Amino acid sequence: MRQILVVHGPNLNLLGEREPEVYGTLTLDDLNREIRKYGRSKNVECRFFQSNHEGDIIDFLHENRHWAHGLVINPGALTHYSYALRDAIAGVGLPAVEVHLSDIHKREEFRKVSVIEPVCIRQICGMGKKSYFEGIEILLSYRE
Ligand code: DQA
Repeated sequence: MRQILVVHGPNLNLLGEREPEVYGTLTLDDLNREIRKYGRSKNVECRFFQSNHEGDIIDFLHENRHWAHGLVINPGALTHYSYALRDAIAGVGLPAVEVHLSDIHKREEFRKVSVIEPVCIRQICGMGKKSYFEGIEILLSYRE
């Protein structure tokens, strides 16, 4: 598990200014820098992608499926309804961890449902940037 895709879904490009009381004050660049540093400390190379467009995320997963050994994905609101993203994760066959900055189980009702979770090894939420670190850890200790 040396090469990992780290994918951020819609609106995560606005991190730092978007509802900082919910998502914190790190920008997406700050967050990616910290994830990259964490990955390096574990001998893991991360390839990052963010998009506000479902199809672009799906294309990225398809295009990078042979490079990567695993996937850490924060699908943003796609979590709650995107069967297309769910099928893409299942389709590329990479072990995947779903992560969230906030605790989706302690927020609005609609956020408690994830259509992505069933195609992932685990769902980690509510730990801010550490949700992503934990996602990397889970992939590193994953044995098929
Ligand atoms: C989020 C939680 C989602 O419900 C929301 O739509 C997001 C961010 C999180 O990281 O906490 O965009 O995935």
